[in-house]
Amino acid sequence: MIQYVIDGGRPLIGTVLTGGSKNALLPILAATILYGGPCEIHRAPHLSDVENLLETLRYLGAKTHFCGDVITVDTTSLNRYDLPAEYTGRCRASISFLAPLLLRFGRCSVAYPGGCAIGARPINYHLEALRALGNFRITENGCGVEVQGTFTGGSYSMPYPSVGATECALMAACFSPMPCRIEGGALEPEVEDLAGFLNACGGRISFVKGIWQSEPAPFYLHDQTLRYTVIPDRIEAGTFALAIAATRGEGRILGCNPAQMQGVIRLLRATGAEVVSGQDVLLVRGRNRRLRGCDLVMAYPYPAFPTDLQAPACAFLSTCYGKSAVLDTVFPMRYAHVSELGKMGARIALAKAPGGEPYISILGGQLRGGRGESTDLRAGAALLIAGLCGKGRSVVTDRGFVARGYEAICEKFRGLGGRIWENRIY
Ligand code: EPZ
Repeated sequence: MIQYVIDGGRPLIGTVLTGGSKNALLPILAATILYGGPCEIHRAPHLSDVENLLETLRYLGAKTHFCGDVITVDTTSLNRYDLPAEYTGRCRASISFLAPLLLRFGRCSVAYPGGCAIGARPINYHLEALRALGNFRITENGCGVEVQGTFTGGSYSMPYPSVGATECALMAACFSPMPCRIEGGALEPEVEDLAGFLNACGGRISFVKGIWQSEPAPFYLHDQTLRYTVIPDRIEAGTFALAIAATRGEGRILGCNPAQMQGVIRLLRATGAEVVSGQDVLLVRGRNRRLRGCDLVMAYPYPAFPTDLQAPACAFLSTCYGKSAVLDTVFPMRYAHVSELGKMGARIALAKAPGGEPYISILGGQLRGGRGESTDLRAGAALLIAGLCGKGRSVVTDRGFVARGYEAICEKFRGLGGRIWENRIY
């Protein structure tokens, strides 16, 4: 258990550097199996989710090494195709092993994935994608899924642009003996990054007129080291942008890609914060400004406002005068932070739209120090932002959620002048 202790009420001022994207790196780690040789992945953040997937790769027989921000993975000697719950239960992204294991062994057995409790997280689209792109016998036994068969190629029209299922479909498609088409897939930059990695492995994936396509490419084990650099973490960068504005500070976020952050940039500007974007830098100014709330912030698949910034945005909007409303269409039950933010002075509540769907209603004001508990990764980030804003001391308890997705978050906030420390309490 971690306890974050925060003395809030000071503007965050200065410069912070963005790390590599967790959600791009995790499927890429699973996809190293499709290279079947030594891979060097650069700009890798030190996160517990990353450690979990490295441990999983070692269990499967791969060799891994993590030094600085470079991960080396060699999957040449992979020798297992089963993943028990002991490995998959810790991290949702472990479902990314499904297609790579199938390609290497023609079969796999993967226990259902765990991960943050942010609502239902089924894998039906992943399995539909496999059925559409291969000739597989799929058995679900209540604890996980067993799959056996071969990839044949084909097309899959996704009922919803699920990030994980699109990634599964791309991995299934890239070494298929026949062309593949995936319509209605996710467009998140992390998906595009995975496609870039798969092409570096020898795949022939392209994105034409809104459709992911792949041409047949041979799969073989490689000797030469493949070097790949993951994209910057747009969610980490967005979290810092919201924190800077929420504390009415002024800061530069370096090493990010503002072109992939339009949803959060639009929100910040709508409240009256100044945002200037360069090629790999974002300047955020909330200093001496009276920021106003936003009528309706809707989390949708990319390029709209991201669900992963919904909770941090709630913390920010709780500091902006007037009313705001926030609706998450991606994970419609991702609202556990609402009551916790309330303990830090936020005037925030769950409400019901005329159609019956829940949304978050916020009336901005002054936050104050309080005690909260993080219930998932992004809810944890939201509470840290609230703690940095509220005058007085805040204590946020966290069962390791924040470290799943934010590297050195206290150091980074302290670099901006935040007074925040973490204690391991047991
Ligand atoms: C990825 O999760 C991210 N995780 C999540 O980030 C992120 O919130 C999410 O995409 C949406 O952007 C990783 O990349 C490791 P989805 P994923 O499949 O792939 C439904 C974070 O905080 N669905 O796009 O699991 C599902 O229930 C994490 O960093 C099905 O119904 O998300 C949800 O409502 C949390 N059937 C919606 O689709 C399926 O088979 C979006 O899920 C798959 C999904």
